[in-house]
Amino acid sequence: MNRRTDAFTARSAFAQSVRLRAAELDDCQAMADLMNLPGVRRGTLSHGYRTAEGLRAWLENSKVDRTSIVAEHEGRVIGQAELMAHDGRRSHCASLGIGVHDAFQGRGVGALLMGALIDAADTAFGLRRIELQVFADNAPAIGLYRRFGFEVEARARAYAIRDGALHDVLHMARLAPAPAFAGAAEHIEPPIAF
Ligand SMILES: CC(C)(COP(=O)(O)OP(=O)(O)OC[C@H]1O[C@@H](n2cnc3c(N)ncnc32)[C@H](O)[C@@H]1OP(=O)(O)O)[C@@H](O)C(=O)NCCC(=O)NCCS
Repeated sequence: MNRRTDAFTARSAFAQSVRLRAAELDDCQAMADLMNLPGVRRGTLSHGYRTAEGLRAWLENSKVDRTSIVAEHEGRVIGQAELMAHDGRRSHCASLGIGVHDAFQGRGVGALLMGALIDAADTAFGLRRIELQVFADNAPAIGLYRRFGFEVEARARAYAIRDGALHDVLHMARLAPAPAFAGAAEHIEPPIAF
């Protein structure tokens, strides 16, 4: 086996040891710890002073319909991702956020989390548009998003401060076709004529 094949095999074996499940309020400490890690802070707009209490209060009081999942390895939360649904004229849309523990990045966890959320968006929620913002120099995240069908829609200049400097952010989105009607077309009642 060559080095590439070895890496692929190791990655697949690791992915099998990761369990995805719904996030619970009891995960707030683990999620705050994850958001405070230097690598996660650098990639996201998290400022690094999250507390479990603050996160819990925010989640409990949030009016947003969110689907939040975590990746667990040997009983430890090593990644999280969520879809936050919009409403009204934007009911077909959701925003997406994702973060993988610094020590476990590049091992397939982000792809697992993303695959699960995209699958839910397409096959359970019928979402048509998922959107997000990402620092323009965040190559791993942009690579992950492109792999799952996201495209760059716009570049917002000096959008967010990081390490004392204002950085550009890309607005990316993934559009999905409308869910199909089950069964053959002849089973669908014709529209009532007036
Ligand atoms: C971005 C992030 C979620 C990716 O998760 P991950 O577990 O490291 O990624 P994976 O190992 O599952 O890789 C999935 C895909 O991402 C892309 N990717 C991952 N690392 C990459 C890198 N260093 N450079 C380019 N693309 C990369 C690739 O497309 C990869 O697919 P491939 O292996 O088939 O090429 C993770 O690195 C992270 O949490 N970073 C810090 C927080 C952050 O930036 N969050 C996103 C904010 S918008």
